[in-house]
Parts: sequence; C-alpha cells; structure tokens
Amino acid sequence: MSIQVRPLDAPLGAEVSGFDPRNITPEVANELNQAFLKHHVLVVHGPGLTDDELIEFGKSFGHIEAARKISPLASRPEIMVISNIRMNGELVGSLPDGEMNFHFDRIHQKKPNKAGVLQGIEIPSKGGNTSFSNMVMAYETLPDALKTKLDGLTALNTFEYGTTIDKDKALAADAPQANHPLVRTIPETGKKSIYACRLMTDRINELPAAESRALLDELCDHVENPKFVYEHVWKVGDILVWDNRCTSHARTDFDASERRLMKRVTVGDDREPIR
Ligand code: OGA
Ligand code: MN
Repeated sequence: MSIQVRPLDAPLGAEVSGFDPRNITPEVANELNQAFLKHHVLVVHGPGLTDDELIEFGKSFGHIEAARKISPLASRPEIMVISNIRMNGELVGSLPDGEMNFHFDRIHQKKPNKAGVLQGIEIPSKGGNTSFSNMVMAYETLPDALKTKLDGLTALNTFEYGTTIDKDKALAADAPQANHPLVRTIPETGKKSIYACRLMTDRINELPAAESRALLDELCDHVENPKFVYEHVWKVGDILVWDNRCTSHARTDFDASERRLMKRVTVGDDREPIR
C-alpha cells in the first residue's frame, strides 16, 4: 500500500491520505515519516480520533511525552488539551485565548520535542488559524555572509508561563530555560534550519546585548515573511503533524466568546539539537 502525498500550494506542508490513521502499519508509518521529513508539516483530514487513537497515531513518529497539565477533558496523561473552554469557571486546557507568536514547542528544554500532533475538535467560525514557517527554506535563502556569521552562535530560550505574546513577557526568575545552537542541523536530512523564534528566544549568547537584539529581530522578521509560511484554516477532525525541529508555529487571534478545543500529543526526540 502507498499513501497519497499531495504537496500544499505553500512553502511547506503536504496533505496525506489513502490510509486509516486508526490503523497504521509499519509500511504506512515509514511513508508518513518520509513525507514528514520532506514536507515538515502533514495535514490529515478526519476522521476524528479518540484520545487513545490519537496517541497511537502519534507513535508513528516516535515516543510520546506526557502533557504538562492534566485536563478533565483528557482521558490519558499524554493528551494535552488546548482550549478556551471553562468548566465551573476553571479553564480545562492550556493556551486558551487569542494570538500566539511564532515559537517552537518546549524549546526551553534541553531536549525539545521532535514533533507535535494536533487535532481540531471544536473550531471557531473565524480565526484561530495555525501558521507554520519553513525554517530550512528561511535558512537557505539567507545571504552567505549572514550564514557565516550565524555559524557557531548559540541562543538562550526561555518559557514564561501564561504568556503567548512576546511583548507581555516579563521573565520570572524561575522561568525554565535552555541554550541551543542558533542554526541546527536535522540529523536525517543534513539540512540546516534557523532555530530562533519571537516568543521564546531571548538572546544570542556570544553577542553584546544590542547586537543580539538586532540580529534576533532581523531573523524573526525574516522567518515570519509570508513567503516561508503556510497558514492552516482548521476543519473539525483535521490532524496536523509538524516537525518541531525545523518549523516554528503561531496562532492568529479569534473571538474569545467562541469555543475552541484541540488535543495534542507530543512526540519526544532522542537527542539534543546539534549544530
Ligand atoms: C501547540 C500550539 C496552536 C494552536 O499546540 O503547540 O501552539 O493553534 N497550538 O492552538
Ligand atoms: Mn505550540
């Protein structure tokens, strides 16, 4: 059996079909992983999966990490609920409202996760789109002099609980943090990828503060250029799989009075980012 892989009309991403996400054979898993490495984002259209099925599907891409927060809407600790829904006044999930700046999930960890698998369950009528930037293409289009300048630099990445917009970030002393290469190589493909994002990358360690700020602003503006970005408009039952090593992602704003419910499983990595 061969799956169908249809590249999106976008700088990254492919729609994959012709298989049952509830029954992934080793052969299909292999084809999905090839498509994942080539296109960086996979789009699967329905059917809606149960929590158990979503976890099993996620295992096609590696081992599953636990969610940080247990939700009353999750039947297993691997399920991360992303939602603005409140029950008895309490949020049932993480990342509830509105816009999110571009980021890599868990880049504040020494070993950030390899992939994210996100299913749309309740979608607002407008907005709440998820955008992905192709960080390999963004790297490859940099001028050679800038590539040379970036080579060997490292950056500090931090996570501030409760903030999804960079300008609101007021870093607490206990905010988790990790240093990583500013350009990382994806082991399976040998491709280089920019590893900095607006929300979580705070400074380049080897440069004076002002120079670091200017270079990070330049890189973030560059990678957020629409020519590197695919913006996904969700339909109920869609599942997106993204390579969290070489894509960064963001979310557009949406009306807080509308419900939005997504479930994610997080695929761990076996190794730390390499230069
Ligand atoms: C995530 C995330 C964006 C969204 O799941 O890591 O950033 O669209 N989600 O909710
Ligand atoms: Mn995210």
